[in-house]
Formats: sequence, C-alpha cells, structure tokens
Amino acid sequence: MKIISFVSFKGGAGKTTALMAVTSCLIEQGYKVALFEADNNKPISEWSKYAISKNTWHKNASVFIANNEADFESAYNQALETGRDFALIDTHGGGSELNNMVIVNSDAIILPTALTVLDTDETLATFKYAIEVAMAAEIEIPTFIMKTRVPTAKLTQAQNRTSQLLDEMPCLEAGLHSRNAFEDMKFKGLLHQVLRKLEANPNDRLIANNYRTAAKEAESLTNGILAILKDQANAA
Ligand SMILES: Nc1ncnc2c1ncn2[C@@H]1O[C@H](COP(=O)(O)OP(=O)(O)O)[C@@H](O)[C@H]1O
Ligand SMILES: [Mg+2]
Repeated sequence: MKIISFVSFKGGAGKTTALMAVTSCLIEQGYKVALFEADNNKPISEWSKYAISKNTWHKNASVFIANNEADFESAYNQALETGRDFALIDTHGGGSELNNMVIVNSDAIILPTALTVLDTDETLATFKYAIEVAMAAEIEIPTFIMKTRVPTAKLTQAQNRTSQLLDEMPCLEAGLHSRNAFEDMKFKGLLHQVLRKLEANPNDRLIANNYRTAAKEAESLTNGILAILKDQANAA
C-alpha cells in the first residue's frame, strides 16, 4: 500500500481538493483507496457523506479517521488488512506530531499551492519542514510542489513570476486550474461519478464538458504522482 500525503502549513492551500481529485482518478483506474482523515474539521467524512447520499461515491473508496497518532496507526492497519492499494492522507494545516508522523510514513508528499506570494512563501516553508522531518528520520521521501487554483485566464505578471519560481523547485508538471468542477466536488462527490451522471442527462451536456476537462486535468496530475511512486520503487 502506497501512502500519498497532502501537506501544507497554510489552510486553504488546496490539499483536500487535490486529494479528492486524485481519489476519483485512482478509483477510475480500478484501485482501492483508503482516505485518511487527519484533519479535525473532517472534510473527507463530510465529502463521502454527501456523495453517498447523492449516489456519487464508490465502494472502493473508504474513509478512516486518523486524527491522532493511535488512530493513524489503526487506520493504517485496517487499510492494509482490507487490501487498499493507496492511502491518501488529508492533513490539517501547520506542524504537529501527527503531521510529522504522516510525513515520515509517506511514499510521496504533495504540497499544493496557489500562485500568490503568500501561498508560495508558506509552501517553501512547508517544503523545508517536510525535508527536515524526513532527514531527521534518515529517510528520503519524494516531496513535490503542485500548482493549484491556477487561473484559466492569462496569468498576471506576478502569477507568472511565482509560477516560474515554483518551477525551480521539485514541482509537478501537472497541476489543477481553478475550476467549478473542483470547487464543487466537496458537495457533489467523486469527480468521475458526477461526470457520469451529467453525461446521462442531455440537459447537462454543457456542464458535462467542463467536468470532462477537469477530469482530464485530474488524470494528468494523478499520473504524475503515480510516475513519482514508480521512480521511487525503481530506485529502491
Ligand atoms: N483547483 C481548484 N479550483 C477551484 N477551487 C478550488 C481548487 N482548489 C481548491 N479550491 C477551493 O479552495 C478552497 C480551499 O481548498 P481546500 O482544498 O479545502 O484547501 P485545504 O484543504 O488546503 O485547506 C475550497 O473552497 C476549495 O473548494
Ligand atoms: Mg483541507
């Protein structure tokens, strides 16, 4: 079971959203996915609740509460026992013992960031923090920045500069644009399941096109993360 964690000091960076998008893609590829809720606000539990009520969930996605170190350990064991291929961890902002535990147990760490100066500052600080926690444990964990909420319109000069700065760091080539389809996932459910529903209704054809574009983007992001895990496995 591979563990992918979504980490950032800053709240609102796009961690939960990126995790939701990747979850949908992994399910679509036939994987069994455990979702670890390591944020007290429980966004993932809420998400699955909405989705189940709307029939836009999938049996291969299961939520495990991992709000403290003991719960994290039992979530891990349960996920292993139930044959999950991946555990995706949604973390709370800031540093904590729990977050340190998440970091050292990850196979890949994804740091989502918007293209603002504040977000970038926090992302670089988070990057340094994650590397230091791993170094202290004498392990090397692939840690990648991921651009998200990227405007679909032409970038401003400042956004362009920020984007280029992030490219100097280990940064995933695929990120996520700012899209309603991503924003709405938390109320609507798994991206691909929502897309399927929209496609089934002729009145929703135009919105379905937007969802298809979003799904393609999420798929590129997911494949980028899978490639990192593959490189890591080959190097070991
Ligand atoms: N790619 C995106 N497109 C549109 N809205 C987004 C995107 N990523 C995040 N958001 C929105 O930004 C807000 C914060 O995102 P969230 O994923 O909850 O951040 P975090 O988990 O880091 O606190 C949410 O309202 C979410 O819907
Ligand atoms: Mg969150």
